Amino acid sequence: MIYSAKRFFSLAKKPRNPNHRSIQKQDLEYFQSILSESEIITSDLSKYNVDWMSKYHGDSKLVLLPNSTQKISQILSYCNTNMLPVVPQSGNTGLVGGSVPHYDEIILSLQRLNKIIDYDTNNDIVTTESGVILENLNQYLSQFNTEAPYDLGAKGSCFVGGNIATHAGGKYLVKHGPLRGYVLGLEVVLANGQIMNLLNKSRKDNTGIDLKQIFIGSEGSLGIITKANLLCVKKAIEKNLLFIKTSSFQNILQIHNIAKSEIGKNLAAIEWMDSYAYKAVMENIKTAKDVFDSQNKIDQSYYVLIEINTNFNKDLVVEQFYNSLSQVEGLVSECVLAQNDHQFDELWKIRELVGSACGHIGKVFKYDISLNTAQMDDITKDLRQKCIDLGFTVGYGHIGDGNLHINISCLDKTKEQQLENQIEPYIFEWLSKKGGSISAEHGLGLMKADYLHLQKKPEVIDCMKNIKKIFDPNLILNPYKILPGI
Ligand code: FAD
Ligand code: MLT
Ligand code: ZN
Repeated sequence: MIYSAKRFFSLAKKPRNPNHRSIQKQDLEYFQSILSESEIITSDLSKYNVDWMSKYHGDSKLVLLPNSTQKISQILSYCNTNMLPVVPQSGNTGLVGGSVPHYDEIILSLQRLNKIIDYDTNNDIVTTESGVILENLNQYLSQFNTEAPYDLGAKGSCFVGGNIATHAGGKYLVKHGPLRGYVLGLEVVLANGQIMNLLNKSRKDNTGIDLKQIFIGSEGSLGIITKANLLCVKKAIEKNLLFIKTSSFQNILQIHNIAKSEIGKNLAAIEWMDSYAYKAVMENIKTAKDVFDSQNKIDQSYYVLIEINTNFNKDLVVEQFYNSLSQVEGLVSECVLAQNDHQFDELWKIRELVGSACGHIGKVFKYDISLNTAQMDDITKDLRQKCIDLGFTVGYGHIGDGNLHINISCLDKTKEQQLENQIEPYIFEWLSKKGGSISAEHGLGLMKADYLHLQKKPEVIDCMKNIKKIFDPNLILNPYKILPGI
């Protein structure tokens, strides 16, 4: 069945799969026979049934928290035989409604699968269970002077498995490239309970189809990621952060170009925000410091954060870059250079808290898109104008990766649907015409499954559906998400 993209309200329910069952007494008895009491939750499930944005709500009656791959295998084998749908859930920080049930699917939480297994000091490869929180993994890795090859604002809550399942991006993609190049191996449990051992510690492995890649970014639709071998990176010796205020978006593009040529491979991250985003943080996050004394004014200012990692000649690289910027008249209005680790973190928080800040204003309609960097401010302004009566619109994101985030917070609780209808499918159709991606890094989840046709040709979607049916013929894994009509 194909659902219409027009006038589809993402908070509305899709038709329920009639082949799926709800849990009954005998199902619970089976789970009780293979799991301990602490691995089963049947009451007070509210935090598992709602996503980070409080936008998507499910009605699951059962959360299972198995502590081993074997138990996950038994659970899935039973669910598959008995047509019980399952939603894998890690840190539940996903932003597209993928990690919560749509109806009463069983929630399979990975939070007890939280052991780091070993570290290969010669090759900097960590082997870990998938339920380890990213920040905890980094704490463990610091003894080897290494870290994960990515970082995101949700690091204190998101799990490594969730990051792999969404193919998370984050701020260091400029420095390290996409996560999939660092996932050397995986262990995955398929819908029928079969354990696929794709674990591997070789950097190079050209033995046929690289099956692990299909699970990276598959958002829980093809299998449950239970273990991973992750190639880690050496921690930077010197981390420098410049926070620049400038007077136009065009200037940001120019600063980006100068950064690429002057800083080269020492450029670790480059991120931007408009003055609406800056104001949202200053007004709504009590701990945020207004380093530019903006006094919450909205103006034509734009902000760009540039992290430079160096192993030697720190002052030279930073100084040379700053001198190049200064030579262009009017390029830098103000600039702050982090003086210590505390300031470094404080400045980064201003950027990382944009998403949370928007949530304080109202329900947030979030767009995570890839497009030509030159168009980022135009599309943000265009949407701001379109939603001026109902929404507060901010533009920000990962300019170094061509990834724009637009958040539109609803100013009137009674008009959320009206606001969404003003934005969608307009924004997705705009992207479809201009080229780019409707999902740069957050994934499709429930939110964008029905817009996939704007991005991918029918034969491509058919191929994806056929792959889904090979791995999950009864469609029990994360139903209603990622692919249209599934
Ligand atoms: P969840 O939200 O629990 O799950 C995400 C999806 O993966 C769901 O579809 C779920 O079913 C599936 N899944 C989870 N675990 C597994 C598993 N073990 N096996 C199979 N499927 C699984 N994202 C970015 O890409 N870049 C950012 O910079 C970024 N910044 C963020 C900042 C904040 C403050 C927040 C709240 C979110 C941010 N995100 C970002 C989005 C989110 O954090 C990422 O998508 C993250 O990778 C999700 O991890 P999680 O553990 O919370 O997974
Ligand atoms: C970010 O870059 O901050 C994220 O992807 C999350 C968000 O947009 O809220
Ligand atoms: Zn992002």
